[in-house]
Amino acid sequence: MTTATATLEALHATDISLLIGSKVHLDKAALLSGEYAADLRELLERRGVIVFPQINFSDEEQIAFTRTMGRFLTEMEGQEVYNITLDKSLNQKSEYLKGSLYWHADGTMNKVPIGVAILTSKVLPTWGGNTEFCNTYAAYDLLPEEEKKQIEGLRAMHSAWTSLFYYEPEPSYAKLEEMIRIGEVELPLVWKHRSGRKSLVLGCTAHHVIDMNPTQSTRLLVRLRDWATQPRFVYSHEWSVGDAVMWDNTGTMHRAMPYDPDCGRLLHRTKTEGEEPIV
Ligand code: OGA
Ligand code: MN
Repeated sequence: MTTATATLEALHATDISLLIGSKVHLDKAALLSGEYAADLRELLERRGVIVFPQINFSDEEQIAFTRTMGRFLTEMEGQEVYNITLDKSLNQKSEYLKGSLYWHADGTMNKVPIGVAILTSKVLPTWGGNTEFCNTYAAYDLLPEEEKKQIEGLRAMHSAWTSLFYYEPEPSYAKLEEMIRIGEVELPLVWKHRSGRKSLVLGCTAHHVIDMNPTQSTRLLVRLRDWATQPRFVYSHEWSVGDAVMWDNTGTMHRAMPYDPDCGRLLHRTKTEGEEPIV
């Protein structure tokens, strides 16, 4: 029996598709015990996304489980559990969530992006609102060798203001300045992880490839995003209340599918500190 098969059996896990996603059917007590943490981390790095169908974590349980996955990271304003919702009474900064409708990884503006994130569903959308994930390890691995060579060593400028134009094409000048203040960062197109694996670094924060003609740069960024988000690399999660979905933020991108902005859709998010910068 291979290690991978042994892990699947220990976790009562089933693969969702060939290249991304597993479902884990352990009960809550087993997850909270921490006993399976190493197996879950191994599975997550390999599969990108783990779904715990209707596990029904309370906030305290979600926090406790997240702590078994790494060093717990609170939000900038100190919340341990973050409300993902467009309802202003539950999230005053919900404006920023408009960018989550486009492919991205979390915290790429930070020195070290976040490691693992967990969403749990509290209120369902009336329509739309799946969360989609793509496997950026698999997307890199399956690139033709020629293309791997072509992008080796290339770097792109990333900023929050770039994503602003996805959802607000004609922002006020004041709004643009506010987003520019968040900063920008140059990142490689290919992340060489300590493990030796490589993943693509793309998303709606990527503005241009350094030292490349603008048309060629846009062409390359769009082509790679289009490649990385083709159906074989993607898992689309349709929420049931109580589901928990955990993703490896270092080897995936994700996005919310459009949903009724007034429907009260609510997810609770927790996360861990990343363990390595993007290099
Ligand atoms: C996030 C995020 C997507 C969603 O929580 O970081 O991007 O489906 N969420 O709401
Ligand atoms: Mn996100």
